[in-house]
Amino acid sequence: VTSTTSVLSNLQAPIVLAPMAGGPSTPALAAAVGRGGGLGFLAAGYLSPERLGQDIATLRSLDQQIFGVNVFVAGGHAADPADVEAYAQRLGGIAERAGVRLGEPRFDDDAFAEKIELLCVDPVAVVSFTFGAPPRASVEALHAAGSEVWLTVTSPAEAIMAAELGADALIVQGLEAGGHRGVFIDDDAQPELSLLAALQLVRAMVDLPLVAAGAIATGAALGATLVAGASAGQVGTAYLRSFEAGTAEAHSDAIASERTTVLTRAFSGRLARGIANRWHEQHGAYAPRAYPEVNHLTAPIRAHGRKVGDSDLINMWAGQAHQLAEERSAEEITVKLASEARAAVSALAARLRAS
Ligand SMILES: Cc1cc2nc3c(=O)[nH]c(=O)nc-3n(C[C@H](O)[C@H](O)[C@H](O)COP(=O)(O)O)c2cc1C
Repeated sequence: VTSTTSVLSNLQAPIVLAPMAGGPSTPALAAAVGRGGGLGFLAAGYLSPERLGQDIATLRSLDQQIFGVNVFVAGGHAADPADVEAYAQRLGGIAERAGVRLGEPRFDDDAFAEKIELLCVDPVAVVSFTFGAPPRASVEALHAAGSEVWLTVTSPAEAIMAAELGADALIVQGLEAGGHRGVFIDDDAQPELSLLAALQLVRAMVDLPLVAAGAIATGAALGATLVAGASAGQVGTAYLRSFEAGTAEAHSDAIASERTTVLTRAFSGRLARGIANRWHEQHGAYAPRAYPEVNHLTAPIRAHGRKVGDSDLINMWAGQAHQLAEERSAEEITVKLASEARAAVSALAARLRAS
């Protein structure tokens, strides 16, 4: 028997929209996934607390009351300024060609405390975290406010830490996933587990409900993760071309192409999977581990790239199955994924009975 949470057990479709900070996540996208029977999600990352509050209000006004908000865990420590400065020197040419100045490479915590406070005053059904373990006090405050707390993990060791913190569910992110790796510590010592390996290893260590994330783009793949013990799949890239996503046009075009994905620190200073472009090819090899400094440093170039539609100047986060993403409403994508997963699992059951 797989354990569950009240939010997970009430989903009509076993699908959680991945929070996608930096533009793709919109209240309209979360509402559309909710209408399709899945769990809508907002990404608090990079937003001001005021803007987060507005997005929550907008989503509620779209008749959605059960949804999640994802928060980045402020962690680590400031990078060595010399490393950041050396990278800034290397990026000078790109900035010059784009006609912009590099951003100020400051270290900050993305307004962590203010966002938690807002979520305690105005609670939502689920608060998920990525990039590490939040302070125990934050988990307790969110629980007291009535929210479920889900933590993103990429390995059994992180899963054990998350369970000890009192997580209600774990989002298990495989190496296939688009966007930043959710690793607690962004170094080379982390195991690079693909989704199926991670699900099995985490399940062997903890009893919590699991949400599977990484390259789920078809109902069959969603069904496979459910067979492997997940309560739901968290789907990101498959929604990037939906009508309601705020994906930049050049990014959306690259998603539809056969272009390959890579893990890179070139854009943000933290390891993330995105579609390879010239920026990564020229600068990925020596981009420092310096998040969020490098993210701030490169922001003006990326904003310019999005504006002019230059795919060599933007971070195009994408999971490994990106070319299967469909250009249609997110509600339809949700309904189709769920019904195809049901069909795939029943066909499998019938096949196993017959053999
Ligand atoms: C464009 C994009 C932005 C993302 N932003 C976030 C985020 O803000 N917070 C987070 O926890 N995960 C983020 N992720 C990772 C997703 O939560 C999830 O692990 C991933 O989308 C699953 O793999 P898939 O994209 O192949 O479906 C992002 C992924 C993408 C593609």
